[in-house]
Amino acid sequence: MKNRVEFLYCMVINNTRLMKLKSILITAAALLPLVFSCKTSDGIIRTEVPARPAGQEDMIQFVCDPIPDVGIGVVGLGMRGGDAVKRLSHVPGCHVAAVCDLLPERAEKSMAYLNNKGIEANSYSGEEESYKALCEDPSVDLVYVATDWVHHVPVALYAMECGKHVAIEVPSAETLQACWDLVNTSERTRRHCIVLENCCYDFFELTALEMAKQGVFGEIIHAEGSYHHNLDPFWSAYWNNWRLEFNKAHAGDLYPTHGFGPVCQALNIHRGDRLKTLVAMDTKPYNGPKHARAAGMDNPDDFANGDVTMTMISTEKGKTILIEHDVMTPRPYDRMYQLVGTDGYAGKYPIPLMCLRSEGAENVDYQNLGSEYVYSGDQLNELMAQYTSPILTPELVETARKVGGHGGMDFIMDYRIIYCLNNGLPQDMDVYDLAEWCCVTELSRISLENGCAPVEVPDFTRGGWNKVDGFSYAFAK
Ligand SMILES: NC(=O)c1ccc[n+]([C@@H]2O[C@H](COP(=O)([O-])OP(=O)(O)OC[C@H]3O[C@@H](n4cnc5c(N)ncnc54)[C@H](O)[C@@H]3O)[C@@H](O)[C@H]2O)c1
Repeated sequence: MKNRVEFLYCMVINNTRLMKLKSILITAAALLPLVFSCKTSDGIIRTEVPARPAGQEDMIQFVCDPIPDVGIGVVGLGMRGGDAVKRLSHVPGCHVAAVCDLLPERAEKSMAYLNNKGIEANSYSGEEESYKALCEDPSVDLVYVATDWVHHVPVALYAMECGKHVAIEVPSAETLQACWDLVNTSERTRRHCIVLENCCYDFFELTALEMAKQGVFGEIIHAEGSYHHNLDPFWSAYWNNWRLEFNKAHAGDLYPTHGFGPVCQALNIHRGDRLKTLVAMDTKPYNGPKHARAAGMDNPDDFANGDVTMTMISTEKGKTILIEHDVMTPRPYDRMYQLVGTDGYAGKYPIPLMCLRSEGAENVDYQNLGSEYVYSGDQLNELMAQYTSPILTPELVETARKVGGHGGMDFIMDYRIIYCLNNGLPQDMDVYDLAEWCCVTELSRISLENGCAPVEVPDFTRGGWNKVDGFSYAFAK
């Protein structure tokens, strides 16, 4: 047996700025990937699955007492968090109770927005750890984390220790250690730890999921998802250049959840099936070094993230998933979102299409390469209208479109989180979804660093993946 122990350090180390160094030290515990991996005789690399501490239970279908008016504390008020404050002030059953950003001017801006609407909130800012006061604030029930990636996990862990539920922007965790820390802290503190994967709530995905649940496509056996988003215009807009620095320092799929989350729901991951093995392959970094050079970074050619990263994942039940990451090329924006079933197909990009088997195709015409029945345009709209997601009431759709947030999906996600907290229901996206969708980042890196070797996906439920039969939404009776 060939054994190898690897310690994979994945920190962005740029200690030219004191603030950055302080940030790194504070968050080192969450970011150091102390989970080690070893290759076994079957050639599969396995990472450590820590035993569940005695007396701790899983969070599957976890519910807590209803919270009639959820006080939300938003931490991180940049491009995403600033918008979240505005959006959340339209969601029924909650109010923004507190805001926090390292930069006082960002906290002031959000406060001005809230005060203009007559909403009183507490403001915390100016210090690396100002978020701690927000987490301790008794008016806060849910901490909504929209910081850069480095700060997601320390804020979320502290919030749960303070007895708060947490919802974390994507990708919520960058390392296996961080995934396990969130799982263990959520289980021990009995607090929800929600992944803010808004793409699970886009209209096409919601409808296709409902169709998959009703068996319209037969059994879903393969799915594809991606994050193809040319970030050229964005790189310099991120606070302290955190995103480019992260890409420079890390190989692997750094942003898997937009493509992965929605297809995992359609494949009932940890609701009857589970992720098993993953293999990744990437291109060289062609464009990354140019951005690093333009940003004045040291050693710009020392750039770890390939322009295109592909990850293939198999499931316990013999299904497959392909996930792609490309934030560097001018490929059009695309989350792929393809469901391949035994009897049908749904695909969202570049134009929405669905296919079902043609009835009564009697004559074989070898010039005709497509024997399936293709639904597009108005026909597709008519078909999809028969399978509206049960979470979409006409009022919700109208408000979501009005308030917006990527066409309304952000609002629908927020609405569902609050609705479930208001009614003491299980969340649509639990801490195991978070860990499964986010662990791809480090696992794909391990695969790449070992010649594209297969890597086992840990079972974050530690045996509970088959307890629930199929993905479903919870509703108040
Ligand atoms: N779901 C989506 O569609 C979507 C879209 C964009 C961004 N995101 C995610 O949202 C998060 C934020 O991205 P962004 O584009 O707003 O980045 P940004 O750089 O604009 O904002 C990050 C903010 O975090 C603040 N911050 C950093 N450390 C902090 C600390 N210790 N305490 C309080 N505040 C701190 C910064 O001051 C900054 O205002 C990221 O995780 C990103 O991946 C998700």
